[in-house]
Amino acid sequence: MHLFFALLVGPGLAAASSILFQGGTIIAFDDQTESLQVIRGGSVLVTDDRIASVSGPEDRISVGNDTEVVGITGKILAPGQINTHLHTWQTVFKTLGSNTSLVDYFGRYGEFAAAGLLSADDVYISQLAGVLESVNGGVTKILDHAHHTWSNETSEAGLQASVDSGVRVYWGYTFHNITATTPAFLVQDQIANFEDLASNPAFKGSPTEICIAYDGFGPTPNVAEVQAIMGLAEEFNIPVIQTHSVEGPWPLQNTPEALERLNLLNSSIPFVLSHGSFLSARGHQLLRTHNHYISITPESEFHYGHTQPTAHLASDQATLGVDTHFTFSADMLSQTRLWLQTVRATLYKAVLDRWQIHMHSPMSVNQAFLMSTRHGGLALRRNDLGIIAPGAKADLAVTVDGKWLKKGGKLLAEGYYEGRIQNRLIQTSPVLYEVGESWINGLSVGEVLTVDSKRGEGNGYGGLFLAVNGTQ
Ligand SMILES: *[C@@H]1O[C@H](CO)[C@@H](O)[C@H](O)[C@H]1NC(C)=O
Ligand SMILES: *[C@@H]1O[C@H](CO)[C@@H](O)[C@H](O)[C@H]1NC(C)=O
Ligand SMILES: *[C@@H]1O[C@H](CO)[C@@H](O)[C@H](O)[C@H]1NC(C)=O
Ligand SMILES: *[C@@H]1O[C@H](CO)[C@@H](O)[C@H](O)[C@H]1NC(C)=O
Ligand SMILES: *[C@@H]1O[C@H](CO)[C@@H](O)[C@H](O)[C@H]1NC(C)=O
Repeated sequence: MHLFFALLVGPGLAAASSILFQGGTIIAFDDQTESLQVIRGGSVLVTDDRIASVSGPEDRISVGNDTEVVGITGKILAPGQINTHLHTWQTVFKTLGSNTSLVDYFGRYGEFAAAGLLSADDVYISQLAGVLESVNGGVTKILDHAHHTWSNETSEAGLQASVDSGVRVYWGYTFHNITATTPAFLVQDQIANFEDLASNPAFKGSPTEICIAYDGFGPTPNVAEVQAIMGLAEEFNIPVIQTHSVEGPWPLQNTPEALERLNLLNSSIPFVLSHGSFLSARGHQLLRTHNHYISITPESEFHYGHTQPTAHLASDQATLGVDTHFTFSADMLSQTRLWLQTVRATLYKAVLDRWQIHMHSPMSVNQAFLMSTRHGGLALRRNDLGIIAPGAKADLAVTVDGKWLKKGGKLLAEGYYEGRIQNRLIQTSPVLYEVGESWINGLSVGEVLTVDSKRGEGNGYGGLFLAVNGTQ
């Protein structure tokens, strides 16, 4: 099988930088069968930014003497996870969001509430901290719905932090009308800002790529605005467009049907629709026909209550993501396990509800693992991302483009363990602890029961702990 071939490093490649990961358990991908292949005692040779070979214990690997050889006996080498939905700049709100509802979210932490309250420096450090937390948890690629675009300066700061991180960030410039700032920063202003950033050579040449995020496709789009944004996407050859799609009683109705009405589905640019909580059967068919993906973010959907009633039925067009890492954590393995067990529980319940017992497990670990790795690559229409196979990008949970980001279990980012980044963040976070509820205007609101987890008096709900002085 062609998975096992060793590249002989010839004279032509002498100048290349190489790393050989030797003698560990490799979670490889076999292109022929399109499935995972676990190789014990295997090795992976990386040359520059690509995987040159994946070998079994019997294969002889010949490498140049400038190759860095890393013994991985007793370890697992996995592809970096792909987080297909994150608002990376929101790290600054850590510790404030443990029991927030979606209404709190929009009132306190969303782009429209935070606009103008965080400086460009705040955004930079918060974005950088979010990317590094992701890397620490094994993520090498982030689809960032970057809605910190409320001034030229804050937009640039978040992009700069992504570039500086060395991670493959698909940084989605968000077009939205921000009126909380003086002056307002509207879509028309953002188009000029976007053009500046997207044509600036300073932001090229790193793994980070500029993309687009936009929530105005449905249900009542401004067609001229949509056309202007799609024009930018084509002009600047944008790799992916991100949009929020929830439906049900929630707003954010950028559904496959809405994209179809705008005649956008049959485009060469892939869309990633975040959540897809109330995706319809027809919406799923549209995604299949035109090959677009949803990004299921299990923990945030349960946390905020979008929930996820049907997305398991669309697993073939679905990836996984994190969304608001400030309310929990940015690691994708937790999301993958949470989603796996949620799907199992959902499908088991359907059998138990008939007073029957099931005979097999409805979803495998392989399926879940591929959803958080390979499917992220497929959502970007890239066959070389999210897998360990010859020719794939060398994004290996500890490297991006074959360059180390984490080594010996430690992040290599300067100053990370001295608390430089964390201390800077803590100075910023309490600014935003103000509740605004205007977002719910016009929506139908219902009561939810509060859990009582304490014997006797009180319910044990407790308070919030602010980062600065422990007060509420
Ligand atoms: C590799 O090692 C050999 C023998 O030690 C040495 O002659 C040669 O210069 C080395 N090549 C490189 C590229 O370092
Ligand atoms: C933001 O950048 C755009 C594009 O360069 C420019 O036209 C605009 O004047 C800038 N806005 C401010 C407030 O500097
Ligand atoms: C931005 O504002 C314009 C003018 O009011 C409006 O037509 C457009 O739909 C708005 N865009 C978004 C994404 O809200
Ligand atoms: C998409 O567009 C191409 C070219 O315009 C056309 O040939 C193709 O039939 C379309 N596909 C679908 C599924 O509409
Ligand atoms: C979270 O808990 C704190 C402390 O009890 C409370 O002030 C806050 O309103 C709670 N938030 C929500 C959304 O319940």
